[in-house]
Amino acid sequence: MDGNGRWATGRGLSRVDGHKAGVKAIRPVIEELDRQGVHIVTLYAFSTENWQRPSDEVGALMGLFEQTIILELDEMHRNGIQIRLIGRREDLSDTLRNLVTDAEKVTANNQKAILNVAINYGGRKELVWAIRELAGAGSDLAKVEEEQISAALYTAGLPDPDLIIRTAGEMRTSNFLLWQAAYAELYVTDVLWPDFGATDVGLALDEYRKRTRKFGAVVPS
Ligand code: IPE
Ligand code: MG
Repeated sequence: MDGNGRWATGRGLSRVDGHKAGVKAIRPVIEELDRQGVHIVTLYAFSTENWQRPSDEVGALMGLFEQTIILELDEMHRNGIQIRLIGRREDLSDTLRNLVTDAEKVTANNQKAILNVAINYGGRKELVWAIRELAGAGSDLAKVEEEQISAALYTAGLPDPDLIIRTAGEMRTSNFLLWQAAYAELYVTDVLWPDFGATDVGLALDEYRKRTRKFGAVVPS
């Protein structure tokens, strides 16, 4: 969800105002994805690198995450959405960690959709943590298989992403789902995240449907 800062400065607002506008953009996007048959969504909200931002901004973001869970949890639960944190929860404040963990518990049996929220997430760190976990559990790392690594990631049990939408025109993955995105289709739009809406979801999915996915093989003609 990139471009909150640019959206705000372009309007003479503070970066935090941009993040607030970014939060408002989430619900219509998830609803449109769901309407179009996309029932597993991951929002990249805060990376392991984002801690380097000014502490005011980090604090405001953490506050927004807490507020958003408090405000949205009931409705998400009613809509059958299962919420999961993708990221290292140990480094979050007690308040945020407890809110996230409660949201996960409350929604654990929901089956209509899965919403992964990536907070304190980094693809490289996720791999390091996974390997440490395997080693700690006594796995023979000299014989490690792809399936074991996949199963030790935060996304264990979920399919790999089919499509990654990147807003605000950046042509990079920024450490997002490095392992899982090996064959994800990438879609980059110049639209800034707070402006990204149902129409933009439609454009991204239209583009995705035109792609031929070969997974390194040859498509039979
Ligand atoms: C993305 O918007 C939001 C988070 C990382 C939380 P940015 O804050 O990166 O927006 P730009 O890149 O400055 O426009
Ligand atoms: Mg950015």
